[in-house]
Amino acid sequence: MRSLVTGGAGFIGSTLVDALLARGDEVTIVDNLSTGRRQNIEAALGNGARLVELDIRDRPELEAAVGDARPQVIFHLAAQIDVRVSVADAAFDASINIGGTANVLDAVRAGAVPRLVFASTGGAIYGEGEGRELPLGEHAELAPFSPYGQSKQAAELYLSLYHRLYGLSSVCLRLGNVYGPRQDPLGEAGVIAIFCGLLREGGRPTVFGDGLQTRDYIFVEDVVAAMIAAADSDVTGPVNVGTGIETDVLALARALGELAGTPFEAEFAPPRTGEVQAITIDPARAAAELGWHPRTSLADGLRITLDSLS
Ligand SMILES: NC(=O)c1ccc[n+]([C@@H]2O[C@H](COP(=O)([O-])OP(=O)(O)OC[C@H]3O[C@@H](n4cnc5c(N)ncnc54)[C@H](O)[C@@H]3O)[C@@H](O)[C@H]2O)c1
Repeated sequence: MRSLVTGGAGFIGSTLVDALLARGDEVTIVDNLSTGRRQNIEAALGNGARLVELDIRDRPELEAAVGDARPQVIFHLAAQIDVRVSVADAAFDASINIGGTANVLDAVRAGAVPRLVFASTGGAIYGEGEGRELPLGEHAELAPFSPYGQSKQAAELYLSLYHRLYGLSSVCLRLGNVYGPRQDPLGEAGVIAIFCGLLREGGRPTVFGDGLQTRDYIFVEDVVAAMIAAADSDVTGPVNVGTGIETDVLALARALGELAGTPFEAEFAPPRTGEVQAITIDPARAAAELGWHPRTSLADGLRITLDSLS
C-alpha cells in the first residue's frame, strides 16, 4: 500500500509511520518540521520512508507531493497543536488547521486519493464535560473551549462537505489525550511528558487548581492501531478514539511516582483559566465499526513512556 502521512515527523505521526513501514507500506512523510523532529523519523528514513519537507499551507507544493507519491491513503495529522498558541493567535491556528486541511482535501481530490484519515480531537472538540453524562458519544454537542478545538471542528465540517460534494471518502478520528514515547509537552496530554521529565530530573509536579481535572488518556500505539483500522474501513464521520476512563491529575502523579519508586508529591498552583474540568469519550463506535479496543492500560503505557526517557 502507498501511504502518505502529513505531520509524519511528529509524535503520533512518526509512530504511525513506523507501523505502516512494519506492515510493508511505501510511506511518504509530509512535514515542515515546525514541531516535528528529524530524530523521530531517522529510523523510518533508513527503512525506506521518504520525507517531503513542505508547509501544508502551500497548496501547489502539497498537490505536487501528492501527485508524485500517488498514495492510496492519506493520514492527515499535520496541525498547530498548542492550545495556548491558538488562544494567542487564532488566525494563525486557523491558517494551518482549517486552511491547511482545505489544501489537503483539494490535493486528495486532484490526486484522486481513495481514502483520507483525519486526526481530530476528542479532548478539545466537545468542551466542558462536567455536568454532562460521561463518557461522551459522537452525537454529544460540540462546544469547544479554544480556537484549537474550534479549528478542528471546522476541519471536520470541511471533510463532511467534501464527502457531500465530491464523494470523498474520509473519517475523523477524535483522539483522546494521547501519550507515549516521543511525546512533546505542548500536546493535549502534555502533562504526562512534563511529569515524566520531572521524575527523571528528581523534580516535583506542579498541579494547577485542585488536581481533580480529568482526561481520557490513550496510549499512542493504540491510537495508531485505530488509524490503520480506520484507513482499511469505509467508515465515515466522527469516531472517538479513547478509553472512556476518567483519570485525574493527582492520580497520574501518584501512578508515576509508584512506577518510578520515588516520592512525587504535588505542588499546588492557582487554577488556569480556560481549562475544562472533565472530559472522557465513549469508544463504542470504534469498537462496533472498526473492531478497535484500547489494549494498553494506563500503568503499562506510563511505564513504557518513562522507560523511553531513560
Ligand atoms: N497529542 C494529542 O494528545 C492529540 C490529541 C488529539 C488530537 N491530536 C492531533 O493529532 C495530530 C498529531 O499531533 P501530535 O501530538 O503528534 O503533534 P506534533 O506536533 O508532534 O505533530 C504535528 C506535526 O505536524 C507538523 N506540522 C505542523 N504544522 C505544519 C504545517 N503547516 N505544514 C506541515 N507540517 C506541519 C509538525 O512539524 C509536526 O511534525 C494533530 O493533528 C493533533 O491535533 C493530538
